[in-house]
Amino acid sequence: MDKKNSPKKILITGGAGFIGSHLVRRLLTQHKDYQVFNLDALTYAGNLENLKDIEEAPNYTFVKGDITDAGFVNDFFSQFNFDGVIHLAAESHVDRSISDPVSFVRTNVLGTVNLLNASLQLAKNNTGFLFYHISTDEVFGSLGQEGLFNESTAYDPNSPYSASKASSDHFVRAYGETYGLPYIISNCSNNYGPNQFPEKLIPLFINNIIKNKPLPVYGDGDYTRDWLYVKDHAEAIDLVFHKGRKGETYNIGGFNEWKNIELTHLLCRLMDIKLGRKEGTSEKLITFVKDRPGHDLRYAIDASKINKELGWKPSVTFEEGLEKTIDWYFENQEWLGHVTSGDYLEYYKKQYQTQ
Ligand code: NAD
Ligand code: TYD
Repeated sequence: MDKKNSPKKILITGGAGFIGSHLVRRLLTQHKDYQVFNLDALTYAGNLENLKDIEEAPNYTFVKGDITDAGFVNDFFSQFNFDGVIHLAAESHVDRSISDPVSFVRTNVLGTVNLLNASLQLAKNNTGFLFYHISTDEVFGSLGQEGLFNESTAYDPNSPYSASKASSDHFVRAYGETYGLPYIISNCSNNYGPNQFPEKLIPLFINNIIKNKPLPVYGDGDYTRDWLYVKDHAEAIDLVFHKGRKGETYNIGGFNEWKNIELTHLLCRLMDIKLGRKEGTSEKLITFVKDRPGHDLRYAIDASKINKELGWKPSVTFEEGLEKTIDWYFENQEWLGHVTSGDYLEYYKKQYQTQ
């Protein structure tokens, strides 16, 4: 087929994970002329059940593979000759990074550099090639009670997770400056929504409330996160990939700050209603536990650049997003059962004893 008329080949890494699976679905439905490839190692966080509804799509290909394997990555890239890469594959959980930082260096830093090296070859022969790195606002470190992260905020990561993501961002930028690789980076705030592995705050607490288990609030719960519904993030990624300026970074966030303890109270209220329990029942599950070491006090994103340049803003309110999320976890108890293994619960018991 003539290259000009052939469908665009887009590689998404980490497409079996939480955000990646929403992005794969979005690209397949919004850009029907694309061939979408999903490269994922299927770690504990990768789950093909997330993509059950689209796995037979004619323009979708899943490949199981590890981005830390440079030989495999190079062969894979030269076989398929992608027009663009949207890179999400990562170790993504801060608590795991505290107990096993090396895995984060391997996947997030080395894995990213392997993809960058393979991309250089493709960019040589394709002026339209783009490497788009999906990153986090955690690279900026912690805010005090005031202020917002913007695109010029200095990097100041505090956890092994954020240090590994900061490092991978720096490598992406360095490949742009040194070798001329066309790239974009976006740094997003905390996501929530369907298909999130129940180790992160919102799905963990929904799952624990359903099962009448303690809700482990770290420290005094006086920590702030800026929450964004995952489908709004997928929409922003789609927009940045197609309309963003090369060599730029974009901050993505929901202008939606919540203290952990207030969010926990809200979840308890909504879940009591959903479960038909007496008001105040779920609150009794709140358990203050030992704080996370190096716990960042506050994250909050100034998303005005992406709003002004690309017209993006979140489409759902937090109340709508939380309701959709809670409904999804209720309707997908089988999914929840499959991902909540005994090992996973043991891991948490070891990490955080109650005070
Ligand atoms: P996730 O943990 O749900 O999914 C990560 C995916 O990467 C999994 O499918 C996993 O199997 C795959 N993976 C891990 N190691 C791999 C390897 N060596 N080779 C190939 N695949 C591998 O993560 P997520 O929450 O969907 O986050 C996706 C990306 O977005 C990450 O880069 C993360 O840093 C970034 N991000 C996440 C959030 C958030 O709130 N979840 C916010 C901002 C940015
Ligand atoms: P998390 O979902 O792990 O995301 P991140 O650390 O990347 O922001 O945690 C969100 C916030 O909730 C963070 O301040 C840590 C806190 N937290 C708890 O208090 N208890 C928990 O069991 C978890 C998982 C998180």
